[in-house]
Amino acid sequence: MWGKGDKRQARATGRCAGGCAMISCSPSPARDDRVPRRAPMHIERLGPYLGVRVTGLDLRDLTIADRPMIRDLLEEHLVLFFEGQDLSEEQFKTYGQVVGDLDNLVLLSNEKQDEPAVQIVEMKPGTVRGLYTDSWHSDACYLERPPYATTIKPVHLPPIGGDTIWASMYAAYELMAEPLRRLADELQVVQAINRFEHVHPVVRVNPRTGRRALYVNSVFSQRILGVSKVESQQLIDMFCTLATIPDVQVRYRWTPHTVAIWDNRFTQHYAVADYTAPRKMHRLTIMGEPVLGVKDWRAEAAE
Ligand SMILES: [Fe+2]
Repeated sequence: MWGKGDKRQARATGRCAGGCAMISCSPSPARDDRVPRRAPMHIERLGPYLGVRVTGLDLRDLTIADRPMIRDLLEEHLVLFFEGQDLSEEQFKTYGQVVGDLDNLVLLSNEKQDEPAVQIVEMKPGTVRGLYTDSWHSDACYLERPPYATTIKPVHLPPIGGDTIWASMYAAYELMAEPLRRLADELQVVQAINRFEHVHPVVRVNPRTGRRALYVNSVFSQRILGVSKVESQQLIDMFCTLATIPDVQVRYRWTPHTVAIWDNRFTQHYAVADYTAPRKMHRLTIMGEPVLGVKDWRAEAAE
């Protein structure tokens, strides 16, 4: 995932190289006494394909100079759990701005707020189950530029239940047999909700690494272009099933002071709705880029 230049830079700066397995690393050891020292940051992998627990880092200390470090970690591990954080709403927003530009879009309703604000995620009484947050999806994939990342933190947690599960869509793609991958590489899918609709490639390519991931989900993917209705539904069902295989997932039991962030481009998530007590989360979304397909990737490579 890292280029030679990235690794050289990591060695030069002393920052965590995201290719770690289970590592301890100290961001920028201060050689100048005027620069405040940071405690060592510890990273523990929670699954073979995605998810790391990050401790020893105070998100309130991050500055814009830490953006590459956070983004490299995110690209490598897809979901980061920063434990032991007790952030006010304003501090949460400030940390979000370190990661990227905050989107002022309210997910699902798609109303634009005057300025980016922390959104509330909660299951209201009487909500029909299995439609949105408690189904496999990536956030706002029906936009031309879906969010790069989503970050959430608990406000209230139920005493039991309310875990969240993420799936690596790289791993889901790589589960498919080679002939099916070649088929998926060629296809496009309509992602839509309400009056919002956009056609995206079935396989999304990481512009930095060229790695491929499935980009079809059970909430927003409506139809595959260029095939019959029956074929479209069968293909969507097969692609969606791959995210539900436990092998490609990581499941997290929330603790009150955890801030989670995920790469919304190459993962899907599922908020398990197995609780009855109140569960309330704060959420921010980070602005993303256009979706790159295999054909776009080949064209760029040929230039
Ligand atoms: Fe979501």
